[in-house]
Amino acid sequence: MKYDLIIIGGGPAGYLAAERAGSAGLNVLLFEKSHLGGVCLNEGCIPSKTLLHSAKILDYSKFGEKYGVVNENTVFSHETVIKRKNKVVKTLTAGINAQLKKSKVQVVEDTARIMGKDRDGFIIGAGSDTYTADRLLIATGSVPVVPPIPGLSEGLSKGFVLTNKEILDIENIPESLVIIGGGVIGLEMASYFNSGGSKVTVIEMLDHIAGNTDREISEILLKNYTKKGVDFKLGCKVTEIGDGLVYCEKDGQKAAVEAKKVLLSIGRKPSTAGLGLENIGVELNRGCIVIDDCCRTNIPGVYAAGDATGKLMLAHVAYRHAEVCVNNILGKKDHVRYNAIPSVIYTNPEVACVGETEESAKNKGIEYLKATVPLRFSGRYLAENEGGDGICKVLVNSTHRNIIGVHMIGNYSSEIIYGAGLMIEAELRIDELKELVFPHPTVCEVIREALFMM
Ligand code: NAI
Repeated sequence: MKYDLIIIGGGPAGYLAAERAGSAGLNVLLFEKSHLGGVCLNEGCIPSKTLLHSAKILDYSKFGEKYGVVNENTVFSHETVIKRKNKVVKTLTAGINAQLKKSKVQVVEDTARIMGKDRDGFIIGAGSDTYTADRLLIATGSVPVVPPIPGLSEGLSKGFVLTNKEILDIENIPESLVIIGGGVIGLEMASYFNSGGSKVTVIEMLDHIAGNTDREISEILLKNYTKKGVDFKLGCKVTEIGDGLVYCEKDGQKAAVEAKKVLLSIGRKPSTAGLGLENIGVELNRGCIVIDDCCRTNIPGVYAAGDATGKLMLAHVAYRHAEVCVNNILGKKDHVRYNAIPSVIYTNPEVACVGETEESAKNKGIEYLKATVPLRFSGRYLAENEGGDGICKVLVNSTHRNIIGVHMIGNYSSEIIYGAGLMIEAELRIDELKELVFPHPTVCEVIREALFMM
C-alpha cells in the first residue's frame, strides 16, 4: 500500500504531525519501535514532572513550620510516587492512541529503515514488509550521550550508572547519588532525590550549572540547592567510574566520590544512526538532520522534526516542527522562528527563560537596557515564599525599546513565561506594554514592575 506520508518516530514531533496530517485527510503511516509518546511522555518531561510535584509537596511538608503548619509524621513513599507516575504516563499515552485512531493514522509498532526511492516513492522496510510513501518525516528523537570514560559502559550494564530512562523507574531512593552533568536533567533529578533524602553530588565540567541560563539566575539556583544540601563540584571532570566510586579531577587534583547510584546526564544526541538516511542522500551534520526553517531536508519530500534535527532539544520545539512540516506538506506557508522559545527547569524554585540573555545579546552586538526585579516585589510571592530570593530580569532593545528577553527564577515562572514569549514574538515595546493590565496579586506583575524601571 502506498501512503501520502510515512512518519518514523512516535514522540511529540511524530505523533502530533501524524494527528494533524491524518485529520487533514492525508493517508498516514506512523512507525514507533518502542512506546508512543517517545522520551517526553515515557521517560522525560511528564514522568519527571510527576516526581518533582511529589518532591514539592514533601518540601512544603518538611518546611511548613514557617507557614504555621507542623507535620511531624510525614512519610514519603517513593514506591507510591513511581506508581502514580506510571498511571499518569498510561493515561497520556492512551490519549495519544485514541487521537491517532480518530485521525485515521495507521500505527506500526516496529523499527523502520529507509531502503531507498523508486518511481513510486520512498521505500521503508520494517521486519519483512516494505511500505511506500510520497513523503517522509523523520522524527526519531535523541539518545543520551555516553562518553568514553573508563568504567562507564560497565557501570551502565551493571545498573550502577543510570540514564534519564532508568532513574525514573528506580525502586528506592539511593542513600547517595552522584549526578554527572549539571544541566537540565541533572538539576531536576538532583531536586527530586535531594528532597527524597539522597546525599546528592553534582559533578559539572563547566564553572556554572544550568548551561546557557542567565548567569545571575543559575547562581541563585546553585545557592538554593547548596543550602538544601546538594554538593556541587564545578569545573570538575569525571575521569573514571569504579566500584561504588566516581573518580574526578579539578585543576589537576584528583578525588573520588562514593555513590550508591550514578546518573549520567551530560546531554543527548540525535538518534539517526542505522536509519538508512544515506540510502536517499539526506544531509547530516554531526549526526543531526539538516533542515531549513520549513523543516525540509535537502531531499525534496523528506522532512525532519524534533530532537533528530539537533535544534533546541525541547518537546515544544518538536511540536512546532510538526505543525510546520504538516502545513508545508499541505501547501500552507509556515516556518519556525527560534527567537522566542521558552525554556524551563522544573526545580524548586523553578527557572524559566525566553529570548536573549545578556551574554547572547552582547555576542550579537545588540545594545540593551535591563531591569532586574526581586520577586519579593510581588505580594503574592512574598505571601507564598518565606525567605524566597527569586528575581525577574527583563531585557529591552535600547533602540527600538521592544522586549528581547525575560529570565525568571521563582515558582510560577514556568506558567508566566509564555506571556513573555508573546511579548518578544509580537515585538511589543515598553510603552505599549505599560498600558497592559496584569492581574493582582500575581507573581507575573513583576514583569510590569520591571518595565516601569526602564
Ligand atoms: P544538558 O545539555 O542540559 O546538560 C549537560 C551538562 O553536562 C552540561 O552542563 C555540560 O557542561 C555537562 N557535561 C558534559 N560532559 C561532562 C562531563 N564529562 N563531566 C561533567 N559534566 C559534563 O543535557 P541534559 O541535562 O542531559 O539534558 C538533555 C536534553 O534534554 C537537553 O537538551 C534538555 O534541553 C532536554 N531536557 C529538557 C528539560 C526541560 O525542558 N525541562 C528536562 C530534561 C531534559
